[in-house]
Amino acid sequence: MTELRVLVLNGPNLNLLGIRQPEIYGRTTLADIDRLCADEGARLGLSVTCRQSNHEGEMVEAIHAARETTDGLMINAAAYSHSSIAILDALNAYEKPVVEVHLSNIHKREGFRHTSHPSARAEAVICGLGPEGYRVGLHGLLWLMRGRPAPPAA
Ligand code: DQA
Repeated sequence: MTELRVLVLNGPNLNLLGIRQPEIYGRTTLADIDRLCADEGARLGLSVTCRQSNHEGEMVEAIHAARETTDGLMINAAAYSHSSIAILDALNAYEKPVVEVHLSNIHKREGFRHTSHPSARAEAVICGLGPEGYRVGLHGLLWLMRGRPAPPAA
């Protein structure tokens, strides 16, 4: 069976993880998260590519490219989650499963973070689990890519 391909797309300022507001985002770096995704992906039999961009248009183009090259997408659009209709529209043109992830619980934070546009498209949203959310997200994405199989009988 060919490996299912996943793009993990991280948005603006996430390149500064580990030094940026550690009281909110912790000390884990983006390189750590990329490694976590690659390792967990390998365990699950997924081919995982991680990308980060500080530019909205680059994120839109990465989602466009992913239409042809991936079977599922996990996105932390960071601050663009709260502002970018362009990223939402790109996600709406992406025809495979989408999982949205945030390190922090955006609903416990400032009001402007409570609306996240990708949530209007994503099959699932994970927030507040820190880097662990990426691991959980990959498991959820695999389940979605497999067509939501029923759990094995107890
Ligand atoms: C974030 C939450 C956003 O509100 C914020 O702008 C980020 C990171 C998170 O992962 O918790 O940059 O997406």
